[in-house]
Amino acid sequence: MNETRRAVLDALADGPVSGPELAAALDISRNAVWKHVEALRTAGFEIESTSDGYLLGEVPEFGPAVEYGLDAPFEVEYHDSIGSTNDRARELAGENARDVVVLADEQIGGRGRLERAWVGPSGGIWMSFVLRPTIPPAHAPLLTLAAAVAVTRAAREAGVPAEIKWPNDVLVSEGRANENQSAQPPSEGRGGDKLCGILTEMEGEANRVSWVIVGTGINVNIAADDLPEGATSVQEVVGPVNRRVFAQRVVEEFHALRTDLDAVLPAWRELSATLGQQVRVETPEGDVVGEAIDIVTPGALVVDTDDGEVRVHAGDCDHLRPAN
Ligand code: BTN
Repeated sequence: MNETRRAVLDALADGPVSGPELAAALDISRNAVWKHVEALRTAGFEIESTSDGYLLGEVPEFGPAVEYGLDAPFEVEYHDSIGSTNDRARELAGENARDVVVLADEQIGGRGRLERAWVGPSGGIWMSFVLRPTIPPAHAPLLTLAAAVAVTRAAREAGVPAEIKWPNDVLVSEGRANENQSAQPPSEGRGGDKLCGILTEMEGEANRVSWVIVGTGINVNIAADDLPEGATSVQEVVGPVNRRVFAQRVVEEFHALRTDLDAVLPAWRELSATLGQQVRVETPEGDVVGEAIDIVTPGALVVDTDDGEVRVHAGDCDHLRPAN
């Protein structure tokens, strides 16, 4: 959001402010104040003209308003519809951008892991963080785990019993989604229905990251019919929520973790659906089967197999059953 526009909103946060007062406070002309107010109204902010001045009413449920009231140093670039927020984020990274969140209501060319397509109908939170962290490339997976933790925390705040399946799928297991109605054991295989997927892309040299894009696709206010098989949404579990608040909580939690990477693994362990499970991880070197007992830097799963402990860095993970 334009900086002056943000300053207009901040000035209106505590009650009505007249045009001349705003002009003086922001050091702009009264005509410029009027133009900014009109632009904000077009973006969906309710701004009433009263005898005491401009009065801020309803803030839009989503859109550029996500940057308003955001407690994290990210600029938000919002699109009603876009091919892929990751593609746009890569363009921005190529132009030296940093600390930008590319956000969209609808994504028509979304990309998932392993070259899969990602379905992104209107109602989701499709967003990509453009980052320039000073970490070695080998530590970049911590940022992916941080995003999974951030989404899971925001989902839980919204009342969704989300968990993380290694490495970074946010799921709601069948038993947990209906836990007030019936206590079913978690399903085998995927471990639950997918609420969010994360696609991280990076450019760098041997010991230096140039940029990292963390693309986060969260199924929020989306009806079951519009979701792919095996997916769920916040709406399906607890009903529709305010996406501005949800997106802000994700960005704020993500920011807290990216500035304190030592906190990522402990937070991930607490929210994990995988630790303590019998798992099968498909890796290029073959399947690793055993009990998932820990996660270690920068995100390797430690599996206790019949042949001893194995550290798995990447692969597709199936939950077989809880370990005894
Ligand atoms: C997965 O396969 O689980 C990862 C899916 C990642 C989807 C998100 S939606 C926002 C961002 N833009 C994309 O094109 N992909 C990621």
